[in-house]
Formats: sequence, structure tokens, C-alpha cells
Amino acid sequence: MKCSSTEILIAKKDSMNITYDLKKLKPKHMKANFEGTRGKGLKAISLILFLVILNACQTKNFAVVINSISSPGKINTIEFFLDENGTPRYLVKHGNKTVIDSSSMSFDFKGQDPMNAGFVIKNTSEKDFNETWEMPWGEQRNVVNKYKELMVELEEASGAKRPLNIYFRAYDDGIAFRYEFPKQAGVDSLTILDENTEFQLTGDHTCWWNPGDWDSSEHLYYTDSLSKIDALELKKNELANSHIVDNSVLTPLTMRTKEGVHIAFHEANLTDYAGMTLKLGGDNFLLTSELVGSDRLGYKAKCALPFVTPWRTIQIADKATQLLESRLIENLNERNKIGDVSYFAPKKYVGIWWEMHIGKSTWDLASGKHGATTENAKKYIDFAAANGLKGILVEGWNTGWEHWIGFEDREGVFDFVTPYPDYDLKEVVRYGKEKGVELIMHNETSAAPRTYDKQMDTAYKMMHQLGIHSVKTGYVGPIIPKGEYHDGQWMVNHYQRVVEKGAQYQVAIDVHEPIKPTGLRRTYPNLVAAEGARGQEFNAWSNDGGNPPEHLPILAFTRMLAGPMDFTPGIFEISLPSKPHNQINTTLAQQLALYVVIYSPVQMAADLPENYKGQPAFQFIKDVGVDWEQTVVLNGEVGDFVSIAREERETGNWFVGGITDENQREITIDFSFLKDGKKYEAVIYQDGKKAHYKRNPTDIEIVKVTIDKNTKQTLKLAEGGGFAISLKLIK
Ligand code: NOJ
Ligand code: CA
Repeated sequence: MKCSSTEILIAKKDSMNITYDLKKLKPKHMKANFEGTRGKGLKAISLILFLVILNACQTKNFAVVINSISSPGKINTIEFFLDENGTPRYLVKHGNKTVIDSSSMSFDFKGQDPMNAGFVIKNTSEKDFNETWEMPWGEQRNVVNKYKELMVELEEASGAKRPLNIYFRAYDDGIAFRYEFPKQAGVDSLTILDENTEFQLTGDHTCWWNPGDWDSSEHLYYTDSLSKIDALELKKNELANSHIVDNSVLTPLTMRTKEGVHIAFHEANLTDYAGMTLKLGGDNFLLTSELVGSDRLGYKAKCALPFVTPWRTIQIADKATQLLESRLIENLNERNKIGDVSYFAPKKYVGIWWEMHIGKSTWDLASGKHGATTENAKKYIDFAAANGLKGILVEGWNTGWEHWIGFEDREGVFDFVTPYPDYDLKEVVRYGKEKGVELIMHNETSAAPRTYDKQMDTAYKMMHQLGIHSVKTGYVGPIIPKGEYHDGQWMVNHYQRVVEKGAQYQVAIDVHEPIKPTGLRRTYPNLVAAEGARGQEFNAWSNDGGNPPEHLPILAFTRMLAGPMDFTPGIFEISLPSKPHNQINTTLAQQLALYVVIYSPVQMAADLPENYKGQPAFQFIKDVGVDWEQTVVLNGEVGDFVSIAREERETGNWFVGGITDENQREITIDFSFLKDGKKYEAVIYQDGKKAHYKRNPTDIEIVKVTIDKNTKQTLKLAEGGGFAISLKLIK
């Protein structure tokens, strides 16, 4: 046998029989050669591998202890071990398929040595957990949170002997882990320069991705195999704010293996830490966490000890549809901390909004085309009241809009309590109340969060006094101060303060240009919606042709895994006469379907009131629910199509929405999800025979039928099309 200092042999006790690179320990090798046993002094079921390391022909025994847990239904398994350098490593299996191969975990700090090796396991413990909790509003009422947890307590064997704990959770719909940094003697806080969590994939999977922009989640999604992703190429995209530094991607990142396993990466409970992007590492299918940094402060995150990081999450499913039914992200967040949020009622709303995006009016007063006038607001309120819509958003109501996009010195410009002279805030609130329509406040911060922080208490107090229970916030533009980014720790903490301020004054928050949603809505159920992807507005003014037809069938399986999105559907005048170079790239029937497919507890009827006049299809928007007892994802493939059925809370009525990409297709809906022995009066809104998102987007057919659980209905979706069905329970 040849001697080599790098060669590592795995041996079953004394018989050396496999040569193997320890960095790529594969479960199948472990299984084939060693029997499961219980680690000495360790509670977790462990597998011990005896390794013989040849070092200049000196033989040294090394034991690898594999701690493993499987999800309650034994669907997903996590294995944790320290390699020969004492580096923490994990791998993930779905059934017997390795989804994440041996991946290391390490940190770089300012003023401290990296934490990347030399650990020993001090202790491990396991726990089974099973609870059912109730969503105050949501895609479903009851959520099962069932997992197996493994907690590993590590300590460096020498030197400062710093501790590090890692919590692993195995769920049937995926896995998650987080780091815990316990107290360290004489150290108050850690300044993190890098978190290097590896995700070693096993092949060149198909990915639905958008660039890991530190400042914007409003790029298009692209479909590529992992090795073909080139995020740096997208630097040229013109966005109001954008900062792409690496070949990295945003989360949720969804991918599909050649065998058809779906894997989605994200994070849960992002609190007082930096947002995570995933950096591509050459051609061996490796992703590594890349935290969003602060160029101003020169680090990624600074955290007071002790602290925990957000959960790193991997949702795993055999079918794409199962990803959408997963509640893993919310389950990994803490329970409701703010109590009753019944002040917030899920609602459909209208708004002085689209008219600015299509250039009919403006946010600012100086243009002479000011949209937010008392008179205009009353017109929208009348329309909402006449159609049972319960909210009205008014943008451009407050002073400051003359000095917004394009201005660098935006600090101190917006005023969140002073209306323009042609807008009587109190009168609009009063008039709305009289008609049963509540004002949704609007606070565009222009990404000057310090100005907002200063005025926040006054602004939210005013909302409280006026009986306003929700606000849409916005953060357009590069963050002031320079060197901070939308997804960095400094902004994460700002967004958090806003949610807490809202809770203090009973105001629900809908954030545009947000930090990515990470399930905090469970803990703070006044955090009701966010944008966090290209919304409808891009169709009105983007110079790249708007959102292509595949945008929404991708969004449903990527961004939507993170939580509710304020996409603002319901545009009926699809051709946009005031915008000759733009149009909506869907059919009218698909606009209806979005109320079901793209979940949010606040759903806008986004078009101008006059565009709904005389439109029979508007009946669907009037009827559709916004708060759900249960959700069933009927079919779908990422980027191609999806159909979702949701049962409305209290009424027992169901609504179904289906959308397709640029390809027409036939979809058969099996109504077996309906209640036994009940009949439903159904209205089907489907693409007309000549419908096509470009050539004939408004061709729609509306049919009434009676449906029960034995019904199967085949629907034809046009290119860029969809369908929407309302099912009223016949009592
Ligand atoms: C961007 C938001 O996404 C949009 O909805 C809003 O109208 C503008 N900012 C102005 O705040
Ligand atoms: Ca936006």
C-alpha cells in the first residue's frame, strides 16, 4: 500500500477496506459497512465509524459518531457528525435518496478565530414534538407542527473552548437547523463576517431562481440547471435599487432533481440577523450561505451573546404541489406574542394606486394630476361600498412625493401625518366608516428608515386615533444611509420595529420592498402581507415587457413559500391604453384565478372602478373569500401551471383558481375535496374559445352548474390563461 498524507481509509475496526474522501462521506458507504449503535454517553442513536488515517504511514484511529434523526413519518432524515478535523457536518436524506450530501458548517468573526474545526461533541439530546395551532387568519385554520429534534452541544477541544449548539428538526415536509451561540466568558457579542453553511447538492438540478440581490427581490425568476445560474449577468437590470455582489440567489429557491424530488431552500424566523442568500460554488453543485452585509459597518451581523440564528430550512417533496401545502416556515416560528389581532379583518380593497402606475394621476401634488384628493377617495369608497369591498388604500396623500424617486437626499422629506391640502384625511376616514369601508394607511418611506423611525410613534398613534387598522409601507430606492441594504441586519431590525409598533397601536402591516417573509406572521399576526417579488405594478411600467406568463406559475412555487403576497390582482383593462408599450401578460380569467392562487389576507381589486363597470366577471371578485378554513393544492408543476382550492371560513363555500404559463393546456378538476352529500352552486369563469394572453386576453366564458364531490370537470386554459370557480354551498 502506498503512503499518502491525504488519503483516508474507512475501516470496520481492523479490516481496512474502503478508500474514501471524508469530505464526501456518503451514507451508503456508512450503511454498507457499519452497524448502528448507541453513542457512549450520547442520547441520540448514533453510528460509529472507525477511520484509519494514514499519515506518513503512521496509523491513527479516528471514530466518527453519526447522530441521526428521522421525521415522525420517517420521510426525511438528518445525519450530523464531526469529521476528522472536528468540523461539524450534516447530510439530509429523503427516503433513501441523499438530498444534501456531507456539508460543513462554519463561521468567520471579527476579532476572533474562525469557528470551523476542532470541535468535540459534549452532549446530544432528542425530543419529539407535536402540536396543532390555530392561524388567526390564513390559508387554513389549523396547522399541525410535528417534528423530531436533535440538539447537539459542541465545544472546541482546545484554545478558548468556545461552545456552539446546533438544533436540527426533521419534519415530514422538510428539515431545518439553526445555530445557538451560548455565552462566552468575557465576550458580550459576536461580529459575524461570514456564516458558511454549506448545502451540498447531489446533481445539476433544475432551479427556479432570482439573483441574490441585497437590495431587491423584484427581479424576474429564471429557470436553469444549477451549474448554469449566472446572477452577475443580471447586474444590468434597471431597478430603483439593486446590489448584486456575487453569483448568488435569493430564497426561497426551488429546485427539482432528475428523479423528480422538489427541494426549496429558505429561512425561518429571521430576527436580529442578516438575510441569507445562497452563493454558488463552482461546478460541484455546492451552495453556501452568503449573508447580506453592511458596507457601512463592515460586517454581516453583530449579535449580543447568547443568541440563535434564523432556521435554515429545506422543504422536500415528491410532488411540487406538496411544497405549497407545507407550513414548515410558520411552524419554525414562535407562538403568537401579541395576542388578539381581531382588529385586523382580512379584506378585499380598492385603491388610488393603479391610476398612478398607469400614469393617469400622480402621487405628488406639483404635477397638477394629483390622485389622492378627497373627492377621488370618496369615489373609490362609493365603489367599494357598492360592491362589498371593505378597504380603500390611498397613496400619495401625504407631503413629500415631489422629492421621491431619483433624489439622493430623501432623509426627512416624507411626512407621515401631514396630508396634501386637497386631501382631507379625517373626512375620508369618516366617510369610509359611514359606508363600511376602512382606510388602509400608506407610508412610503423612500428607503429612509431613520426618518420613518423618528416619526413612527406619532404616525401609528394617529392611525390608532382615527380607527385605521392597517398600513401599507414602502421602501423604494437604495437605503439611506449608504452601505446598508434592504436585506441586511440593520434593516431586518427596522422592519421588526415597525411590526412591533403596529402591534402596540393595533395596526396590521403590509410591507412593500420588504425583508423577505420568514414566517414571523405566526409570532406577530399583525404582519399580514408583503410584496417581496415583482408584483402587478411591473406590468404597468417595466421596460422589459412586464411579467411574462410564466412569472406567476413560478411565483406560486418560490416566493409564495415564504408567506402572503400583496400582488394586487384584478386588472380587467389588460391592454393598458395609456401605456402603449405595456400590457398584462395574462387573460382576464387568470386575473380572477390569482385571488385564490396567490394568497394574501388583503386582496386588492386593483383596476380603476370604471374598468369593472358592466363586467360580469367582476362578480367573482365580489364573491371570492379572503380567509380560509382549508387549502387543497389540486395539481401543478413549477413554472407551468397550478390549481388550488380553498374553503372559506364560516361560509363553507369553496373557491378554485388555476393558472397556466404561456402554454395552453387542459386541466381536469376532481371535486372530491367537497363535503359529502352536499351540493354547490358553481360559477365557472374560464378562458373563452379565442382567449390568448396577447391576442385576445378578455375573452371569457361564464357558466353556472351544480357540482358535488363526484364531479370531474375538464377546463381548457388558454396561453397565459386560467380559470376561477366559486362554489356556493346549497344549504
Ligand atoms: C412600490 C410599491 O410596490 C407600490 O405598490 C407603491 O405604489 C409604490 N412603491 C409607491 O409607494
Ligand atoms: Ca414594489
